[in-house]
Amino acid sequence: MELEILANIKQSGEKELSAVRNLQELENWRIKYLGRKSKLIEVLHHLSELPVEERKKIGHQANEIKNFLASLFQRRQEELKMIQTKEIEEFFDYTLPGKPYFLGHLHPLTRVLNEIIEIFTRLGFALAEGPEIETDYYNFEALNMPKEHPARDMQDSFYLQISEEPRPCAQERGKLRAKSKEYLLRTHTSPVQIHVMEANKPPVRVIMPGRVYRHEAIDPSHSAMFHQVEGLAVDERITFADLKGTLYIFAREMFGEKIKLRFRPSYFPFVEPGAEVDISCLFCLGKGCRVCKHSGYLELLGAGMVHPKVFQAVGYNPKKYTGFAFGLGVERITMLKYGIDDMRLFFSNDLRFLNQF
Ligand code: FA5
Repeated sequence: MELEILANIKQSGEKELSAVRNLQELENWRIKYLGRKSKLIEVLHHLSELPVEERKKIGHQANEIKNFLASLFQRRQEELKMIQTKEIEEFFDYTLPGKPYFLGHLHPLTRVLNEIIEIFTRLGFALAEGPEIETDYYNFEALNMPKEHPARDMQDSFYLQISEEPRPCAQERGKLRAKSKEYLLRTHTSPVQIHVMEANKPPVRVIMPGRVYRHEAIDPSHSAMFHQVEGLAVDERITFADLKGTLYIFAREMFGEKIKLRFRPSYFPFVEPGAEVDISCLFCLGKGCRVCKHSGYLELLGAGMVHPKVFQAVGYNPKKYTGFAFGLGVERITMLKYGIDDMRLFFSNDLRFLNQF
């Protein structure tokens, strides 16, 4: 009878142990099969009630099973501990908050450029871009600056030696080859006016942002690479008043209601009349201070009415059409807007500066 009980204990103990999956289940198993109240221990307790011969036999058998189950227990315990340590090492808590990534933001020049584009887009201007590698024809000649023209001296250029035509002007390749073979980094965005007018009939109302290059000595207010936004409006009966109105709206949107504009006569070969446009100093509100060199005004951009020779170069009839054009410097505007006194900060990649925007 007892032998049968012992055989059952051994069999079910082994079977149940194979289903044990963790240390808690193993502990429950231990209590059931080896604990003080287990059936096995009960058999051992009652040994004294048995006849001597049977006591020996049953006792021997019970101890063997006890040792057998204990060794099974020990082995399983070691296995489970190993699994648990591995799981802890490999454990990945998906509920933990992620490591914070440093989120970048737009460069101040990009922000201001976007703002400029947004203002002019609201005024009905479309957006156009042109190549940074230009020909002498587009950068100067078509803009009424023939070779040896003294106005070229104002825009000292980086000339390039290129054995094949520049790729960005694919559509214009034929013309480029016919007109000029001299390449340079564009010194202003005005050549994009020519590209736009060559490709479109009037009316035209477009702004043309982009990077430009000049062989300049670098100082707090000059860079050898900077950004301009060119503006062009061509139609019948466009007047200087349209130019003034457009620039007034732009300046107010950009710098606030209190801003005043001043148009000074100036010379650019591709406009007639031409003007340099200043805004009342944002730092002293026009009273005169160190920043505006006590003039009360700060230079904002160049502008004027498109020269008839430019219209002729693109095949527009100058008797029928008039237009205005302007070119503003994005760095200068950003400096005015944020009170930055050194243009070089934009390009030094110093996060102490950039993180302030
Ligand atoms: C021009 O480049 C003309 N193409 C502008 C124009 C367009 C006039 C259409 C008439 C009609 P200017 O060289 O003045 O003009 O440059 C225009 C603006 O670019 C300046 O007002 C200034 O804000 C900026 N700028 C000029 N040189 C530099 C420089 N080295 N570094 C940074 N900004 C500059």
